[in-house]
Amino acid sequence: MSRVAIVTGGTRGIGAAISVGLKEAGYNVAANYAGNDEKANAFKDETGIPVYKWDVSDYQSCVDGIAKVEADLGPVEVLVNNAGITRDTMFHKMTPENWTDVINTNLTGLFNMTHPVWPGMRDRGFGRVINISSINGQKGQMGQVNYSSAKAGDLGFTKSLAQEGAAKGITVNAICPGYIGTEMVRAVPEKVLNERILPLIPVGRLGEPEEIARCVVFLASDDAGFITGSTISANGGQYFI
Ligand SMILES: NC(=O)c1ccc[n+]([C@@H]2O[C@H](COP(=O)([O-])OP(=O)(O)OC[C@H]3O[C@@H](n4cnc5c(N)ncnc54)[C@H](OP(=O)(O)O)[C@@H]3O)[C@@H](O)[C@H]2O)c1
Repeated sequence: MSRVAIVTGGTRGIGAAISVGLKEAGYNVAANYAGNDEKANAFKDETGIPVYKWDVSDYQSCVDGIAKVEADLGPVEVLVNNAGITRDTMFHKMTPENWTDVINTNLTGLFNMTHPVWPGMRDRGFGRVINISSINGQKGQMGQVNYSSAKAGDLGFTKSLAQEGAAKGITVNAICPGYIGTEMVRAVPEKVLNERILPLIPVGRLGEPEEIARCVVFLASDDAGFITGSTISANGGQYFI
């Protein structure tokens, strides 16, 4: 029987590559998304991966969404917390809404998604939780106090929960991508990208979503059973920790 995997934000960008990578590796994948029906339906038609709409920042929506996935596909054994947003602005211009939107999606979303699947993983003695954090959660980033705080929080979540899951066969790991060529990064003005971002990346290019997907597929596998509480930095050499 194929293991069931949920990928939040699994219909676009890095998440879409993760959904496809897991499907190709033999998982039964459910791709969650927030509201872009057009992109989600195109993704479903193209890949055959079922899509499910709910907001990871709302606990009850996660409970209901996960219940639907489990009724359709079976118990969730792999959870990839990938959904994320940016509301970039300098701190003195940051509104309380800019702060809470990002914290609620990028950090509280991990609690909302992981908490409902955790008891089943504990009972079955197996689970994989993989959190997509960010290089900017490791090093901080001007204009991203909200985002960097949430992404740094994701790493604390990962390290703490890993200690609770270890004896139950559940691993919890994080991946910190550097700049990956998705819509989120392509939204950065080209001049800023070429003059201020690319020169910081020693390999001299943006990363590909598939390069993050391959890290996820490895962490989800039985081969990665001794790896927990870890962070993979996939950033082209931009930052070492
Ligand atoms: N791109 C990078 O260079 C980079 C670098 C470091 C870390 N990351 C992290 O990698 C992850 C994916 O980034 P990306 O660039 O692939 O993003 P993206 O292209 O903007 O896609 C974001 C995905 O998340 C979904 N989403 C957003 N808010 C959600 C919510 N509240 N509930 C459910 N789904 C939600 C979106 O759904 P809709 O399609 O419905 O909007 C979409 O599927 C994020 O956590 C991001 O912070 C990205």
